[in-house]
Amino acid sequence: MTWRITIQPSGHCFEADAKSDILAAGLRQGLNLRHGCANGSCGECKARLIAGQVIQGKHQDFRFSEQEKADGYFLMCRYLATSDLIVETGESDQPDLIPKQHIIAKINRIDHLQNDVIQLTIRTPRSQGLQFLAGQSIALRFNDVPSRYLPIANCPCNNTLLRFHVRRQAGDAFNDLIFHQLRRGDAVKLYGPSGDFVLDEESGQPLLMVAWETGFAPIASLIDHAIDKNPERIIYLYWLSQSRQGHYLLNYCDAWRDALDHFQYQAIRLPNDQMKTYQDALGWIIEQRQPCCDCEIYLTSPVAEQQSVRRLLHDSSIPAKQIHITPVEN
Ligand code: FES
Repeated sequence: MTWRITIQPSGHCFEADAKSDILAAGLRQGLNLRHGCANGSCGECKARLIAGQVIQGKHQDFRFSEQEKADGYFLMCRYLATSDLIVETGESDQPDLIPKQHIIAKINRIDHLQNDVIQLTIRTPRSQGLQFLAGQSIALRFNDVPSRYLPIANCPCNNTLLRFHVRRQAGDAFNDLIFHQLRRGDAVKLYGPSGDFVLDEESGQPLLMVAWETGFAPIASLIDHAIDKNPERIIYLYWLSQSRQGHYLLNYCDAWRDALDHFQYQAIRLPNDQMKTYQDALGWIIEQRQPCCDCEIYLTSPVAEQQSVRRLLHDSSIPAKQIHITPVEN
């Protein structure tokens, strides 16, 4: 049995079954519900019940005042729905509404996707999932090595297992540690999140995504989040790479294509006969997807090309508010 939960004032809706707490169900379905500890301690997921019935599923330490109880306040991370609900609560769908967090986490997996690309999976404590928006980055700090901001590759629906893509770079201490010293179970300090390369939550326009090298990570996070919110949304993905080993997670793109009716992707190796540079490829993509002015465009681009990319998009008459760019190293 599932129940329909309507959030006020946003009007966003999601389904909750009889086993999931309301917070977990909402996060899984792509809502950015305000929360913190997810274990009934902090009170951040406080909500007011306007209509319907809930029951408490797990113990909570957080205490409401008598007035709050009388007004129908409850914790979404501790309660289950037993009917359709209308609930008043906040959503953190803007980067500046997400609190900065310090979390001590552990390395859960180190997967060598290719000789020169590692996918790092980091597990936070169960009671301290990271609150972030799809597309954002977080600083990773290991003892003795300066911290590094890396884009998170998964969507916020799983906020305790965080994935990152790292490409080998000679002469970089952080990179050396990841490729040669890091072991499963090692501790890592997380600080953040940061960045405004996030989905426009109000727009339902087609998404045109252009990923450059390991800039596939934040693009994958955005795509997974967009699918959670609306699996019918039209998504075009172009992934550009000049690596000799080619694209490192095409099976992930294949899975999207196989599961979704409105997802198309193309992996482009550079240079090729038609295009030499990122800019050539972007010009070609814009031509292919004309008219692009009805798309929300998300690009990860080489650091040195950000300005020229903006000019190219501007010259193509794409409204500035529909253009989202973030640079990536490689
Ligand atoms: S998220 Fe902390 S009490 Fe619910």
